[in-house]
Amino acid sequence: MSKHIDFNDRMLSLGLARVAEQAAIASADWIGRGDEKSADQAAVNAMREQLNRLDIKGVVVIGEGERDEAPMLYIGEEVGSGNGPGVDIALDPLEGTTLTAKDMPNALTVIAMGPRGTMLHAPDVYMDKLAVGPGFDEGVVSLDMSPRERVETLARAKRCGATDITVCILERPRHEDMIAEVRSTGAGIRLITDGDVAGVMHCAEPHVTGIDMYMGSGGAPEGVLAAAALKCMGGQIFGRLLFRNDDERGRAAKAGIEDLDRIYTRDDMVTDNVIFAATGVTSGSLLPGIKREVGYLTTETLLMRSKTGSLRRMVYRNPTRTA
Ligand code: FBP
Repeated sequence: MSKHIDFNDRMLSLGLARVAEQAAIASADWIGRGDEKSADQAAVNAMREQLNRLDIKGVVVIGEGERDEAPMLYIGEEVGSGNGPGVDIALDPLEGTTLTAKDMPNALTVIAMGPRGTMLHAPDVYMDKLAVGPGFDEGVVSLDMSPRERVETLARAKRCGATDITVCILERPRHEDMIAEVRSTGAGIRLITDGDVAGVMHCAEPHVTGIDMYMGSGGAPEGVLAAAALKCMGGQIFGRLLFRNDDERGRAAKAGIEDLDRIYTRDDMVTDNVIFAATGVTSGSLLPGIKREVGYLTTETLLMRSKTGSLRRMVYRNPTRTA
């Protein structure tokens, strides 16, 4: 009989911060070099190596892709030393590969961990997402509302006008109508070119980021990572999987998803306590990027635990080998 070991989120969280940190440091040489693939590969290698040093029996639930398309950190890969609690892991070694390659804001390394069986196995399809920060009634806005209704309802809940609301949206042709409708309310829009995990996280600290709401479609795996972040920071996220063809519906079936129209709440996507770490690669509103001095790299990592609502910011100055 296998020995059950509790998920010790307090001790594991410090190791998780190191995993995010090392992935960021590995990607540092690729910032602004125009090479997405190499930047991602460097982060993947480092994240995997560090994860395998942790005393966990981990399974990658949200990873680099299906086993046949991603040789490392694929969905279902077992990671960790094998001595320790059984855990689910959601990760994106480099969230914003293009942002990194072009040295644009908000590229992050991201990882979340929870007890085994507590994270949605989201297939690699799009997800329609809607998120707001803490302090509102549950379900204050919903995916079934039009973009106009969402803005006007949130403005009423905040006791302000629509012109005081700022919405974050990925700049994509598929969002043109949504963008026009939000603009017609008088609300402001922060358009981002990539990186919707950071986009959603911005809603949790509107006083810092100036963002009240996130809406639009992006990767479903990124939706689960964003849900993990908001579970620690507070705030709501709703997600509905979007399927463009039978191949994508097949991916859902493979992940055990039967109700294709279901709207997932934050706590449906991440059902138990979770720990979350993100390190800034390029500077953004939430985290500074990697700072380079001759002989040193400095990173900042956000480390959070949903059980306590604690949030640490860890600055790490690391001598480089060429010093
Ligand atoms: P990568 O880092 O894998 O390039 O993903 C960046 C990202 O912008 C995600 O944050 C977002 O969920 C997704 O791509 C959006 O997909 P698309 O570019 O197809 O609209």
